Amino acid sequence: MANNIGLFFGSDDGNTESIAMRIANRITGDIDIIDISDATQVSFADYSTIILGIPTWDFGQIQSDWEEFWDDIQEVDFTGKTVALFGLGDQFGYGDFFLDALGMLHDVIVNKGATIVGHWPVEGYEFDASKALNPDETHFVGLGLDEDQQPEQTSTRLNAWLQQISIDLNITVTPLDDNA
Ligand SMILES: Cc1cc2nc3c(=O)[nH]c(=O)nc-3n(C[C@H](O)[C@H](O)[C@H](O)COP(=O)(O)O)c2cc1C
Repeated sequence: MANNIGLFFGSDDGNTESIAMRIANRITGDIDIIDISDATQVSFADYSTIILGIPTWDFGQIQSDWEEFWDDIQEVDFTGKTVALFGLGDQFGYGDFFLDALGMLHDVIVNKGATIVGHWPVEGYEFDASKALNPDETHFVGLGLDEDQQPEQTSTRLNAWLQQISIDLNITVTPLDDNA
């Protein structure tokens, strides 16, 4: 198995894709960026370190390309793989379903043996319900970003989360600059 990192994302409007690129640009070393619409089950076999990005759509639904892949990912073995997740949503527009797809994807890969890193505190967000919460509801199961309502917070959140997962994933992250 190669030592490089696989970053898989799906994106309808480009926000998650843009964040995927920003993450990849900050990580030192080999990182492959794979649109989930181009992935097969075998694609995951190449990586022991994986980052997954998913937005929520249509009142708590998974993004369309992830949905196409949903049956396939149930058959991927994540045993021995360490995974960090990030999700995009709109906490004011869809406050009853905020980041639901992030939680749904998390549950699938945990069932398939993944070790999860990169939980993220809920402070600073306002929403009514989310499937992306940990059982004690103090953290999301991955980084939550809201490009619709809190785009000004994205760089700070991204920077702190990357620092956090760099330790857990044993990767090197370049410091934040104005374009990060
Ligand atoms: C029609 C529509 C439905 C949405 N439904 C949800 C939702 O249920 N939960 C949520 O957190 N965000 C929801 N969003 C917000 C998107 O997740 C957000 O805009 C995200 O940045 C889109 O990512 P993408 O550009 O990568 O597709 C919705 C947005 C639209 C336009």
